[in-house]
Amino acid sequence: MPKPSSTFVCQSCGSVHSKWAGRCDGCGSWNTLVEEVRQAASPASPKRRGGRAMEFVALDAEIKDMPRCITGIAEFDRVAGGGLVPGSALLVGGDPGIGKSTLLLQITGQLARAGVKTAYISGEESTGQVQRRAIRLGLSQESIALASETSLGPIIDGLMANKPDVIIIDSIQTLWTDQLGAAPGTVAQVRACAQELTRYAKNQGACIILVGHVTKDGQIAGPRVVEHMVDAVLYFEGDRQQQFRILRAHKNRFGPTDEIGVFEMGEKGLGEVPNPSALFLDGRGDAASGASVFAGLEGTRPVLTEIQALVAPAAFGTPRRAVVGWDNSRLAMVLAVLEARCGVSFAGKDVYLNVAGGLRINEPAADLAVAAAIASSVFDIALPADCVVFGEISLSGDVRPVGRSDARLKEAAKLGFNRAICAHSGQKPGKNDNYALPLIAIKTLPDLIRRVEAVANSGKMTDSDVNRIWAA
Ligand code: TYD
Ligand code: MG
Repeated sequence: MPKPSSTFVCQSCGSVHSKWAGRCDGCGSWNTLVEEVRQAASPASPKRRGGRAMEFVALDAEIKDMPRCITGIAEFDRVAGGGLVPGSALLVGGDPGIGKSTLLLQITGQLARAGVKTAYISGEESTGQVQRRAIRLGLSQESIALASETSLGPIIDGLMANKPDVIIIDSIQTLWTDQLGAAPGTVAQVRACAQELTRYAKNQGACIILVGHVTKDGQIAGPRVVEHMVDAVLYFEGDRQQQFRILRAHKNRFGPTDEIGVFEMGEKGLGEVPNPSALFLDGRGDAASGASVFAGLEGTRPVLTEIQALVAPAAFGTPRRAVVGWDNSRLAMVLAVLEARCGVSFAGKDVYLNVAGGLRINEPAADLAVAAAIASSVFDIALPADCVVFGEISLSGDVRPVGRSDARLKEAAKLGFNRAICAHSGQKPGKNDNYALPLIAIKTLPDLIRRVEAVANSGKMTDSDVNRIWAA
């Protein structure tokens, strides 16, 4: 019998050491090495045992077609790149309590309804708890195979016996295998279990969806090491105080990674939100200063959001710059351009920026909308209420056109907006474009500030006077 070999694995970064140490050389964190004992599977002979040799395939050989498995929840299917791929593993990560179990149970229910053989294995809840949740979601009649199990051996055996097509493992952190000495939830266990399940999916042509909990700073053991092993990583995010949740692709071997799916948590579980702009703009009151509506793109889909800014005198020595939902350094850039090119001073002023509804924007196209909201707050005038804003700002103060303006304008028109402040692209709307909004073309940032200032300085004016300034 060979001696079991033992290694020491860092629970923070996953690096492997041959000896125990107080500090991990890999990531520098203290007290994170845990012993991992591995039973040698076969007599430790370096000689290769007989078996089959690897086979090569020509690039132009016939492709074995694997039809995707459409779940019927359109928001999920789009983020997954057009449905689930047989023989793949998918990780759905997110904060605890955000709704991962709910979403996956609903997906399983839809699949079962369409006649797909599904299994839901929960390591966190008893089968009774999952059943009660299914009743609440109106899925109690669907033929989903349920199990409550945390040990990997029985799970693989059970799957081999039943051969479901879609398998949910909720969650990967609760699983453990007796091949390792480490405790459940440690990086070593999570990695070993994920590896075994991924191998099962590839061999059997099943689709495995793993659930993983992540904290905000990605601290707690697990999902990060699993990301490399699986074919797609989707993050389910949102504010627990608010109803809606966003499913975002982080990595996807079978589709684009910039798509989002929007859901709303209600009494009967998660509902799809096919028109997120209406949701994000919901509750927008009369035009107030310090707000602009940004016509953005999330993946292929245009989404309108309100950007709010507040510029206030700083109460303490160092002025604050607080940003929610946008990039901090991008805000610093916009403020610097406003100072240097337009003469708007932010010395001794706090600047707060918020993207309403908890959405996170990554596009540079939001620059102009941010600048417009800030200018609107500085001069204390409201931007036209029927107007969307988009455009990228360069360091010289020029406003640049951004991609897919037509999609942005179309969405804005659909939601009742009549005008758009954006860069002039020189492109005239076609005669048949029923979405062609009149554009307030802005060439440079000083051009925008000049108009805001003119509206602010003009005292009492009729609406048409204000509109004339904007249209000038
Ligand atoms: P859950 O799916 O258990 O979260 P996770 O698996 O990500 O930890 O969802 C938990 C939250 O969702 C819980 O706070 C209650 C809420 N919820 C509803 O509001 N409506 C519902 O129909 C369900 C099932 C859950
Ligand atoms: Mg859960």
